[in-house]
Amino acid sequence: DMYRQQILDHYKNPRNYGELEDPDIEHVGENPMCGDTVKMFIQLADDGDTIEHVSFVGDGCAISQASASMLSGELRGRSMADVEGMDRDDIIDMLGVELSPMRIKCAVLAEKVAQDGIAIHEGDVDIEETTTE
Ligand code: FES
Repeated sequence: DMYRQQILDHYKNPRNYGELEDPDIEHVGENPMCGDTVKMFIQLADDGDTIEHVSFVGDGCAISQASASMLSGELRGRSMADVEGMDRDDIIDMLGVELSPMRIKCAVLAEKVAQDGIAIHEGDVDIEETTTE
């Protein structure tokens, strides 16, 4: 169906793929079940809060990488608090497909990496690497 096509398209032609040169936020995470990874790069606007640029690199299944690709577009223009308030339902809505609990871990990896990266930037937590366990 249309949503599966869209996921495959993002997997094969990831948007915003690559490292940002001088990111305000850079954070990596993995799904320990499989070792798949996503690293997110976020650059903030001059107000120090609005997300201006997002990119990612990663290595993993179609759902994890497509989710990172879609999310990189979704986050632009949002505030950090807005992103921290996102939950798995937002990701499921974004992907537009029903997912098993196993696949949901794939889907939320990029979101968790972005949120943990923001939390570290804000000084809220001290995390070395995000996992979706
Ligand atoms: Fe590893 Fe999907 S199978 S993140």
